[in-house]
Amino acid sequence: MRPLVPLFLAAAAQAAGTFQVLWTTDSSGDPDDANAVFGPDGPWQAIYVGVGSSGESRPMWPSGGGTTMALTQLPGGAGSIANSSTALRSNVSMASSDDWFSSIFVGDEPSGFGVVDTVDIIQKVNGQHSQVNTTIVAVETWPVNFANNSTYSARVGILGLGPSADKRLGSLAVPAGILSDLKSRGDIASLSFGLHIGSVPFKQRGSLVLGGHERNRALGPVGVFRYDTTESAPLLLLLDVLLGTHIGGSPFSPPISETTEHSSTSVWRGVGDNFRADEITKRVGGKPGSAVIMVNPAAPYMYLPPGTCEAAAAHLPVTFSPELNLFLWDTSSAAYGRIINSPSYLAFVFADRTATNITIKVPFHLLNLTLEAPLVATPTQYFPCRPLDSAYGFWMLGRAFLQAAFLGVDYERNLTYLAQAPGPDMEQSVLVERPAGREGLESNPIEEWESSWMKRWTVLAANEEFLAEQNGNGNGNGLGVGATVGVVMGVLAFVVAACVGGWYWWKTKRGGEGITMVPGQEEPKEEWARGYQGFAEVDGGDRPVEVPPKMMVHEMEAPHVTHEAPGNGEFWGEGGHAPKGQGS
Ligand SMILES: *[C@@H]1O[C@H](CO)[C@@H](O)[C@H](O)[C@H]1NC(C)=O
Ligand SMILES: *[C@@H]1O[C@H](CO)[C@@H](O)[C@H](O)[C@H]1NC(C)=O
Ligand SMILES: *[C@@H]1O[C@H](CO)[C@@H](O)[C@H](O)[C@H]1NC(C)=O
Ligand SMILES: *[C@@H]1O[C@H](CO)[C@@H](O)[C@H](O)[C@H]1NC(C)=O
Ligand SMILES: *[C@@H]1O[C@H](CO)[C@@H](O)[C@H](O)[C@H]1NC(C)=O
Ligand SMILES: *[C@@H]1O[C@H](CO)[C@@H](O)[C@H](O)[C@H]1NC(C)=O
Ligand SMILES: *[C@@H]1O[C@H](CO)[C@@H](O)[C@H](O)[C@H]1NC(C)=O
Ligand SMILES: *[C@@H]1O[C@H](CO)[C@@H](O)[C@H](O)[C@H]1NC(C)=O
Repeated sequence: MRPLVPLFLAAAAQAAGTFQVLWTTDSSGDPDDANAVFGPDGPWQAIYVGVGSSGESRPMWPSGGGTTMALTQLPGGAGSIANSSTALRSNVSMASSDDWFSSIFVGDEPSGFGVVDTVDIIQKVNGQHSQVNTTIVAVETWPVNFANNSTYSARVGILGLGPSADKRLGSLAVPAGILSDLKSRGDIASLSFGLHIGSVPFKQRGSLVLGGHERNRALGPVGVFRYDTTESAPLLLLLDVLLGTHIGGSPFSPPISETTEHSSTSVWRGVGDNFRADEITKRVGGKPGSAVIMVNPAAPYMYLPPGTCEAAAAHLPVTFSPELNLFLWDTSSAAYGRIINSPSYLAFVFADRTATNITIKVPFHLLNLTLEAPLVATPTQYFPCRPLDSAYGFWMLGRAFLQAAFLGVDYERNLTYLAQAPGPDMEQSVLVERPAGREGLESNPIEEWESSWMKRWTVLAANEEFLAEQNGNGNGNGLGVGATVGVVMGVLAFVVAACVGGWYWWKTKRGGEGITMVPGQEEPKEEWARGYQGFAEVDGGDRPVEVPPKMMVHEMEAPHVTHEAPGNGEFWGEGGHAPKGQGS
């Protein structure tokens, strides 16, 4: 069934045992192509997946649960799943079926029916399709709720790469899962994937590799976490959230007091008196005050307990919109551009399964996202941190976070990997296969994080210097325009830091481009997983304690779903399912 591929293409295509998936922005060749990027809270890129006998490519968020969710009908009327000659229809009506819990946070209400059908996973390099069977929710309506009881329709589906949680779907036997199928036919070496969402505004393409990962997408120490097979989801423990500046002066107003070398401060306010959260944290083995966090590319924002987004926002020129439950940037403020363009970040400190701290820095460049219609009348820049009093006792970091983080899942070892992802000027792509049973994950040196952002940063005058300047001329305007003149670059000539793979010397090659060298300045040292003060300040407030005993209800049996499904779709092979014409 596999299409023949010219040898030279096949040779160029993949490291053995890996499958690099096509993204919407790869396909068009133009990241500005309006059909290749998605809102209304992005812009985001997704992967292309063919579904059913039509094989029509549609955008999907790659995710790790066991169920794929696809609109029955694509916008424009093409690609109906109900008409797929390869579809085996169950009589099970299904609602939110993302095992990784996106619906709780996104607030969407998909509804449709379960089918078993083919999906075409498309290779990035040569466009070759690999066709596999999987469980799909054919979604007929997919409203996403937002402000004022308004809804809009989701456009992007969810590709569930994980093993099927259930053996049966009504009367149908369920296939083992997408990765199992690819592995059993020898396309990939193990049931695993490596993912980096990338950034559309910075034209950094997404990366999804099945059976391996792109080594240049994971930097520095790699956190190893459990993959919880009971919940079928990665459960991470979040210890702290920091607001800081990597090098140079603090751009924030009020500025962050320089109690630490990198002028960073904890904005983590703990889980409050959320009783359910304490329970879940204990169950996962976390220390008091830490929170259980899911990561999921199918959700847009960073959903955090009440208090934390607010504490970060107190340093930012943002206003809170109660209807949208989001913070909007005040783009007229001088501090806005100063912060977005500075080497400042929101950092997330996780404790991995050996209680080792893993810090992921999300640069403010990536936290300048755009809301569009129908959420707002005119495009509006927003800060993608949403305070949420979770009735479920856990929280979620979505695409906004995954722009800056590498996520790997190994379903054979039941492990989740998390590492810092590079900025837009990243090093050469190196595909690495993950052999079955392997533990640990290869990464590139952490110094590449700095070099991958350096050209984009406007480094501010160091605070001591600024304070001296302020004392000298009595200018009390906080960080004025004069202070935003870049400095400090030369000092980075040699930085030594510990890395997973050993010690690396890194020598900066950059210097010019709006950055002024100031010789003789003290060399900033980067300690990646360093300790910070300020932790788990508990805030008050009413929290719902009545919560469902099971985390989530996945599906609902319905006796009759009346659909005009073709009568010939009940068995595989009937009517023949020839390979798709696309790409061959
Ligand atoms: C599905 O099939 C029906 C009957 O053959 C046809 O009328 C309809 O146009 C098809 N829909 C799509 C989207 O192909
Ligand atoms: C679904 O229900 C229809 C009619 O109710 C029936 O003809 C069909 O065989 C059922 N399909 C499955 C897979 O149970
Ligand atoms: C899908 O499942 C059917 C029935 O189990 C099988 O005949 C067919 O070969 C499968 N297709 C693929 C692409 O694995
Ligand atoms: C929600 O309703 C309020 C009051 O009617 C209005 O001011 C606001 O603009 C609405 N928000 C959205 C996002 O439609
Ligand atoms: C949303 O709908 C509910 C129930 O219909 C209503 O009570 C509430 O006032 C509505 N809220 C807004 C902002 O319109
Ligand atoms: C924020 O993002 C918008 C849209 O991508 C862009 O036009 C604007 O320049 C960005 N702001 C800054 C300060 O970089
Ligand atoms: C991973 O989890 C699955 C399902 O619970 C189990 O069958 C398998 O043995 C586990 N693998 C390891 C290495 O623990
Ligand atoms: C890990 O991070 C927490 C929270 O920031 C901090 O309190 C702790 O000291 C760190 N541990 C180490 C070993 O750095």
